[in-house]
Amino acid sequence: MSRPAQNKALNAADILARKGSTPLVCLTAYTTPVAKLADEHCDLVLVGDSVGMVLHGLTSTLDVTLDMMTLHGRAVARGTERALMVIDMPFGSYEESPAQAFRNAARLMADTGAGAVKLEGGRHMADTIRFLTERGIPVMAHIGLTPQAVNAIGGYKVQGRGTDAARIRDDAQAVADAGAFSVVLEKVPAALADEITAQVSIPTVGIGASAGCDGQILVIDDMLGLFDAFKPKFVKRYAHLAADASTAIETYAAEVHARTFPAAEHVFTDQGPAS
Ligand code: KIV
Repeated sequence: MSRPAQNKALNAADILARKGSTPLVCLTAYTTPVAKLADEHCDLVLVGDSVGMVLHGLTSTLDVTLDMMTLHGRAVARGTERALMVIDMPFGSYEESPAQAFRNAARLMADTGAGAVKLEGGRHMADTIRFLTERGIPVMAHIGLTPQAVNAIGGYKVQGRGTDAARIRDDAQAVADAGAFSVVLEKVPAALADEITAQVSIPTVGIGASAGCDGQILVIDDMLGLFDAFKPKFVKRYAHLAADASTAIETYAAEVHARTFPAAEHVFTDQGPAS
């Protein structure tokens, strides 16, 4: 499936042009209905490989496959009209060589209609980012905490503290020079995120970084309070949908047990019983 570029949809160049201007609103989505909700308010919708943990119960993103990303990417494409849809390249699908990355990125874009891919890594991925962008694949880079490297990093901890800041600054410059149209800064100290935002010519999109970034992204199930296996400290919950759903299911169960469950002749509107 290839989603034709829509006139209304934002593209990677539009996102790049927002550097230093109105902050970019970004969220993840994995399904059509949620993509529709996000699309109304977002500039960029990411089909994140966080889908593995959030929807499939995996303990990390390492087991996420190209087929999983394709399935969720297609679903999100059906709900996205205006926002730029970006899709994550899963672990193992791009690190081996620029040619492997191109083959899999092209497949993901053609099969889902995504307008760009995201991949994790800084300076060591710069050649790959250049290879992709020179061949027509817009790339969003992801540096700082890169969850696919959790085993090498030794956990989901803040990156770039103290003398390590130079490494993250260098990563940001390398991906910008390689042609990425934007860069996600995950879990880096606010002052460092602000410095990088001032330093590079591409938009920085923060997650657990700084309000001074050119945009923000969150995992939608985290901010809606739907995913409660754990909560990163930096996540603000804007709703508590898991708790609401649990109460609703409890009420339903009580009505089934009490035989007060509505009969066929009852008519409900969103406001309650109509008769
Ligand atoms: O997979 C994901 O959801 C992400 C965001 C957290 C940036 O990479």
